[in-house]
Amino acid sequence: MTTATPNSPLVIRPLVAADWPAVWALLQPTFARADTYSYPPDISEPAAHAAWVEAPAGTFVACDADGTVLGTYCIKPNQPGQGAHVGNCGYVTADAARGRGVAAAMCEHSQDEARRMGFRAMQFNFVVSTNEGAVRLWQRLGFAIVGTLPGAFRHPVRGYVDAHVMFKTLVGTET
Ligand SMILES: CC(C)(COP(=O)(O)OP(=O)(O)OC[C@H]1O[C@@H](n2cnc3c(N)ncnc32)[C@H](O)[C@@H]1OP(=O)(O)O)[C@@H](O)C(=O)NCCC(=O)NCCS
Repeated sequence: MTTATPNSPLVIRPLVAADWPAVWALLQPTFARADTYSYPPDISEPAAHAAWVEAPAGTFVACDADGTVLGTYCIKPNQPGQGAHVGNCGYVTADAARGRGVAAAMCEHSQDEARRMGFRAMQFNFVVSTNEGAVRLWQRLGFAIVGTLPGAFRHPVRGYVDAHVMFKTLVGTET
């Protein structure tokens, strides 16, 4: 899929093995800051690969016209078994590419992909309340805060802060 952005065309496609070094280069500093995700800040490259590429049902990259990786997302069932019809995604945009609509495009793409994979809804389990740009972005894209976990995230600077559960139904309510 190609998505027009104000700056350049964005191509969102499945990750291939050759993308991993670029994906790790944007995941590593994000996880190390430890202010948005609960991955270990010192997560090893193999562990990050296992979590972002091997365990999910799919992993995608968002690239600019030159093929530079600007962002990545992964998608997987939120729960096994009777909860497996609800999807879950993680999104990271490269520091240098933030605020240009990359995550918005990835989230829209992931919702189409989720429907294609048969997911009926999308749940974000642990959106850190201090990640205000992300909370606002997901709300703008139709996700509702359905619950707030008091002090559930230990922020490296702000201490114990709330985390939101966010949810969006992707298909009709027919059974
Ligand atoms: C959250 C994140 C994915 C947003 O990516 P992005 O590509 O900058 O987002 P977009 O450009 O599509 O959307 C920008 C919106 O998010 C806000 N925003 C969030 N983080 C921002 C940042 N670091 N710089 C600029 N804008 C940011 C903007 O205010 C903007 O909102 P608006 O459209 O209402 O003005 C990105 O900051 C990131 O990778 N953060 C670290 C990992 C993370 O928090 N993932 C989400 C966990 S729930």
